[in-house]
Amino acid sequence: VPVAAALLALVVLPAARAAPAPPDARRVYLRDCAVCHAADGTGTNRGPVLSGVGRASIHYWVSTGRMPLSSPTERDRRRPPRYSAATQDALIDYVTQLTGPGPAVPAVDTHHADLARGGELYRLDCAACHAWAATGGALLEREAPPLGKSTPVQVAEAIRVGPGVMPAFGPSAITDDDLSAVAAYVRALQNPQDRGGNPLGHIGPLAEGAAAFVVGLGALLVASRIIGKRA
Ligand code: HEC
Ligand code: HEC
Repeated sequence: VPVAAALLALVVLPAARAAPAPPDARRVYLRDCAVCHAADGTGTNRGPVLSGVGRASIHYWVSTGRMPLSSPTERDRRRPPRYSAATQDALIDYVTQLTGPGPAVPAVDTHHADLARGGELYRLDCAACHAWAATGGALLEREAPPLGKSTPVQVAEAIRVGPGVMPAFGPSAITDDDLSAVAAYVRALQNPQDRGGNPLGHIGPLAEGAAAFVVGLGALLVASRIIGKRA
């Protein structure tokens, strides 16, 4: 029991101690966004007006690390997000409150989605720009980025929001179910099964075997020590 209590404390205490103060989204906005989008979100000559953009758009731009831009002449591109998830949420709340309601973050369910349908739509509506394997492609004006790192929610947001020169697809073009199907298909493209011969095929089983050996033997060792003490 003391051991269990100690283990529990190890797990529970740091979580309790780390409970963060709610991030001050207003301060973050004024420091990182207002220079281009203005303190009230009405825009400047460095950045567009944000009124009514909605949570889907704000989440897309901030969670893909595109915002904040470091300079108005910089081209937006995917980067690691600048903020923690909690700060992102607070910032989205703040900007939405400042600029009024707009499209919500779409709900996606990739587990029950129709992959075949997703593939059909992807080839029809997306592949021309992002390439059939979602590796990205060249456009006249600018590049369509690869989708290898986009989360299903970001895929759905991009479809509804239409960032930059990408067209927005409304519910009449891509229904909410289809939205999940396309997001699931992009996810599947990110994890190809490589049935035709994986170059790591010879290493994979060896690595798995080694893991089983170490983890399995370790577990046996621990178990036998516990049993041994009781006897
Ligand atoms: C250096 C200037 C700059 C800064 C700083 C900046 N932005 Fe932007 N923002 C832009 C520009 C320029 C665009 C248009 C980008 C494009 O279409 O490629 C934009 C677009 C956006 C959009 C999409 C607007 C729309 O109409 O679709 C959102 C949302 C946004 N920014 C939020 C933010 C937030 C939140 C921050 C702070 C964390 C921020 N931006 C910081 C310049 C900036
Ligand atoms: C006309 C070309 C075009 C079409 C068609 C198009 N896109 Fe895009 N897409 C773009 C461009 C350009 C961007 C980058 C926008 C920016 O950052 O300004 C983009 C961005 C994205 C992103 C963000 C990627 C990232 O970095 O995280 C996703 C996800 C995405 N598109 C998915 C789709 C899906 C799914 C479809 C089909 C329903 C589609 N796109 C159709 C051009 C296109």
